[in-house]
Amino acid sequence: MNRQLAKRYLFAISLSITILLNVSCKQAEPKNDIESRVNKLLSEMTLDEKIGQMSQIDPGYLSDEQIKQAVREGKYGSFLNVSGVEKINALQKTALEESRLKIPLIIGRDVIHGYRTIFPIPLGMASTWNPEIVKRAFRISSIEASSQGIKWTFAPMIDITWDPRWGRIAESCGEDPYLASVLAKAMVQGIQGENLTDPTALAACAKHFVGYGFAEGGRDYSTTYISEPILRNVVLKPFEAAKDAGALTFMSAFNDLNGVPTSGNEFTLRQILRNEWNYKGMVVSDWASVTEMIAHGYCADEKEAALKAIKAGVDMEMSSTSYMNHIKSLVEEGQLDMKMIDEAVKNILRLKIKLGLFENPYVDPEAEKQLLSPEFMEHARKVARQSAVLLKNEQNTLPLSTNITSVAVIGPLADAPRDQLGTWVFDGKAENSVTPLTAIQDLLGKTKVNFAAGLKYSRDKSKAGFAEAIAAAKKSQAILFFAGEEWILSGEGQSRGEITIPGAQEELMEELKKTGKPLIVIVMAGRPLAIGNTVEKSDALLYAFHGGSMAGPALADLIFGKESPSGKLPVTFVKGSGQIPFYYYHNNTGRPASAESWTPIDSIPIENSQASLGYRSFHLDYGFTPLFPFGYGLSYTTFQYSNLILSSNEITSDGKLTVKASVFNNGNVDADEIVQLYIRDRVGSITRPVKELKGFQRIHLKSRETVGVTFELPASALEFFNGKENVIESGKFDLWVGPNSSEGLHTEFSIK
Ligand code: BGC
Repeated sequence: MNRQLAKRYLFAISLSITILLNVSCKQAEPKNDIESRVNKLLSEMTLDEKIGQMSQIDPGYLSDEQIKQAVREGKYGSFLNVSGVEKINALQKTALEESRLKIPLIIGRDVIHGYRTIFPIPLGMASTWNPEIVKRAFRISSIEASSQGIKWTFAPMIDITWDPRWGRIAESCGEDPYLASVLAKAMVQGIQGENLTDPTALAACAKHFVGYGFAEGGRDYSTTYISEPILRNVVLKPFEAAKDAGALTFMSAFNDLNGVPTSGNEFTLRQILRNEWNYKGMVVSDWASVTEMIAHGYCADEKEAALKAIKAGVDMEMSSTSYMNHIKSLVEEGQLDMKMIDEAVKNILRLKIKLGLFENPYVDPEAEKQLLSPEFMEHARKVARQSAVLLKNEQNTLPLSTNITSVAVIGPLADAPRDQLGTWVFDGKAENSVTPLTAIQDLLGKTKVNFAAGLKYSRDKSKAGFAEAIAAAKKSQAILFFAGEEWILSGEGQSRGEITIPGAQEELMEELKKTGKPLIVIVMAGRPLAIGNTVEKSDALLYAFHGGSMAGPALADLIFGKESPSGKLPVTFVKGSGQIPFYYYHNNTGRPASAESWTPIDSIPIENSQASLGYRSFHLDYGFTPLFPFGYGLSYTTFQYSNLILSSNEITSDGKLTVKASVFNNGNVDADEIVQLYIRDRVGSITRPVKELKGFQRIHLKSRETVGVTFELPASALEFFNGKENVIESGKFDLWVGPNSSEGLHTEFSIK
């Protein structure tokens, strides 16, 4: 064994011993112990060391020696965007052996939908409506990320949004506060695991607090105006769920909320998060969001920005250095109370203690062997399979038989290994993606697959490849067209004004349609696109979002009927950008539209004296319904709902309702169905949404099987903020159980 290897071996053994010791004294530390450790450390710290703990940077621009020196001096409590076993172990060694107080670093990273094994983008994961598999996906992400020294992920991103133009809709769970809350809990549990001192546990970070998803016009970073009822009844809900699930950290946001930037917002960060919710964790700013308060016009300079952020309760500053540069003088001048600094530092130290970093800051070099393990990749395939939503299937075009003699695989996303990974992927690799083309070739054999991308990438407008694609279609029994967006068209800073399918994809589909072969379109995108034209042209359409490393095999599983599609839309699909915002839980207006009242634009007689004959709430061109409603998704079978029964027609405000219904699988294949429960509070002290999701269950039904579902609906779930206080109001409610937000069995009940 050479010296290098021997050293590595010894290091691995000593680490394994530390890990073993750690595991054997697994129980969480008694609270008082944590507090006394925190207080003891704090009492030994200089102000400079405290400021260091409150500062986080991406050290990318520093040399290794400069980083080391900074760690020795205790200049930073945390780094982001450094990883790797040797690098992190060396940094932690410096912190523990060479810095005065021996406080370990905490290393953060955006592990948003997988580390090396990449899962579907979060919006795709939300389409599974399956908290269990989402939790496992986040657990796997943590196992992989921790093997590289990362102990803190800036996830889950749980911003509610009504705007598909906003590029970051890809990272979100969509529009619904209930679905997002259920998933937020699952994500936090997956990230943090069952035992925080386990080497694979990461700290979760609920972001972005708060309202960032309401950027005006869908332009990233734009101003947000959110009424307090919408803030509390919608936007804050998933954050409260993340807090309840034990999220160790929160991230403040970039946006200006009702005139006060969220990184200096005492109302949201202090009053709501700390005082009302009693949150005890740590708050980090978003990247330079503290100093961006200057551009917002809320602070004159860095010093004021630091002051306002700390007063609001931002414990750690990410990337910018206003804390480092100004806290000292703010304290010395008496503008900042030392108590506030101490609170922030305590929050940070507590986090490091809870994660067991003081005892075991090192990474076991063996752990990285698990990256991309077959079980992880198989799970990625499962999640991708459950995330795809079947939106059209004329005459059961899908599934295709594996006995098909020839199939054309066309489109810019058919063989685009990086694009299928989606946005916010730092550590996943295109070379580990299995594309649809590869998966279909593996399944059918290469000779049966006629591949011609037709377009080189999603925005490609050149028709140079059309002839080859048409020729491939002509010699095939069916066309599989993989449409969509490149990964770079969604994500942070990647908002679009028009949410159409880009480039010449529509034109190519038009040409392919002319061949008369069944046209099956699979859309792989970072957002809900306005796909009306494509839907019309296609015989079947599967909406897959960006499905991650295993998108290819997952889609092949669905296309060739190994499993039935079962995803449901976590967001309303609009007909065009002009219909935004369109979310299913809107209020009713005084003039709700109906089919009878809508006057389509072309039906209005020229020079008619009265343009809108109905005077109802609709668009002359779009009408009043979306392209596809929230919760929608088809299957290879059909489901019949029956026997909706309530335990009572009247409950008290402290009571609960038991809701039962039966679902019958009226087809020849076994499949999952996502059963959804909605309510409507008919009359309120403020107007109430036309529907609100209050429960859902993913159930499996064998062919011709009937399955009973039971929901418990406590009256407390009907509570809402009415502008003054939280109330459960008496009166009549509608209740539906059904397959999506616009269909279902209906009944009524009352609250006394
Ligand atoms: C994003 C955050 C992210 C941070 C660190 C910011 O630009 O808004 O979501 O966690 O960068 O990478």
